[in-house]
Amino acid sequence: MANIYLVVGSVTGTATAVAATLKKDIEAVGHSVVVDQQASLAALNANEWDALLVCTSTTGRGNIPQNLREFYNELDASRTLIPAIKYGIVALGSSAHTNFCGAGVSFEVLLEDSSAQCLVPKVTIDATETKTPDRDAKFWLKEFLAAL
Ligand SMILES: Cc1cc2nc3c(=O)[nH]c(=O)nc-3n(C[C@H](O)[C@H](O)[C@H](O)COP(=O)(O)O)c2cc1C
Repeated sequence: MANIYLVVGSVTGTATAVAATLKKDIEAVGHSVVVDQQASLAALNANEWDALLVCTSTTGRGNIPQNLREFYNELDASRTLIPAIKYGIVALGSSAHTNFCGAGVSFEVLLEDSSAQCLVPKVTIDATETKTPDRDAKFWLKEFLAAL
């Protein structure tokens, strides 16, 4: 069974709620998961994770939420320290903004440039199109878990 590090970036709580749903579903099929609202490279490197799951909204103009920015900056500053980990990205945003899901895209670009391995393409969840972001993420999670 896999051990998953689920890092969350959220401003108004939507991505946090989505992460809580993902946690439930991950545990329901017997995997273990740590949800981290204050993710750090130290925590990523401190454990034998089988996968990294990034669940983040976008704020400002395509920016990463404050509570996930340090993790991104740490990863960016030390790409060689990013483990060859499997990963997936759940990107929340709104197509009413330019830089749609910019935070998710930033993580995607960064991780693509490392030795980490993308399990399934990131999912984008558009606040203008769905009122049930957790349900959308659940469908994607099935693919992610199947690819582990
Ligand atoms: C001030 C503000 C700025 C935003 N900027 C962007 C943006 O640049 N790109 C985007 O795709 N979505 C943007 N959004 C939309 C949010 O990412 C989206 O509503 C998301 O579901 C919020 O999740 P959260 O509650 O976890 O922060 C913005 C929302 C707000 C309120």
